[in-house]
Amino acid sequence: MIPPGRFVRSGKVKDIYELDEGQLLFHFTDRVSAYDVVLPTMVPRKGEVLCKLGAYLFENLGMPNHMVRLEGDDMMVVKKMEMILVECVVRGYLYGSLMERVAKGEAKVPVQPILATKLPEPYFDPTTKSEVKDEPITEAGIVDQGRMTAGELAEVKRASFEVYGRLSERAAGAGFLLADLKLEFGRDGGASILLGDSIGPDEFRLWPTESYSTGKTQESYDKQPIRDWLSSTGYKAKLDQARKAGMPIPPPPVLPDWLVDETSRRYVAVYEALTGKSL
Ligand SMILES: Nc1ncnc2c1ncn2[C@@H]1O[C@H](COP(=O)(O)OP(=O)(O)O)[C@@H](O)[C@H]1O
Ligand SMILES: [Mg+2]
Repeated sequence: MIPPGRFVRSGKVKDIYELDEGQLLFHFTDRVSAYDVVLPTMVPRKGEVLCKLGAYLFENLGMPNHMVRLEGDDMMVVKKMEMILVECVVRGYLYGSLMERVAKGEAKVPVQPILATKLPEPYFDPTTKSEVKDEPITEAGIVDQGRMTAGELAEVKRASFEVYGRLSERAAGAGFLLADLKLEFGRDGGASILLGDSIGPDEFRLWPTESYSTGKTQESYDKQPIRDWLSSTGYKAKLDQARKAGMPIPPPPVLPDWLVDETSRRYVAVYEALTGKSL
């Protein structure tokens, strides 16, 4: 199906079109990126999963949001908003870039600095929203830089914790831990702030409870198998080197069939776990 409307931009995963009446259409493609590089291989059903899971969560998390309706299997119409220039990250565990910052002494948490340790309570860890690289920002910085008023920040922070809490409960019921989550919010013209963008395995880390233990890299239900493969085949090291040297990035490899199948299987499994429905 050819998406209607005027083409606006291609993100790493979504293609965005503008419709009339202040609406956007998101086409969730089967593209997959890792380490901020779009790979040359498509992952079947990924777009459908991201679209349908996002829609399900917008409908069932009880949080005011931008969704208007679905079109077909992999397109969503949303209200066009003025986006808030902050990525609202909530973390339940010491992992990812927070672990790196703690190790470097750039951030402090009230637990031993052991990978994947559960934090005593969810931790709000916002970053700037940038085309180049998202950087951590303090709450004072958010207000000082005019990204949000203090009142908006309080509202957005509360909403972020609420979404994290509700989604964690759902995940727990299906045998998963919600390690962390990234949300975006926007201004709806009037006074209200709505949850925007999308919610899915590209925005959160989901770990099977069964295999969880601290002090190690966790098995993650998302594109983790692809990241692991890119590391083990040496592409990740070449990429890091090129980036450090300011050189063009090396062309990413075509993914083998088994890896594509496994990744697709994981995306579908996440959908089924969080919705309790089969795709
Ligand atoms: N309701 C909305 N109105 C306007 N912009 C939005 C809305 N929801 C999300 N966006 C923006 O759309 C863009 C999605 O593009 P991007 O994140 O690059 O795509 P991808 O996730 O495919 O990489 C983001 O900049 C996001 O902030
Ligand atoms: Mg995005």
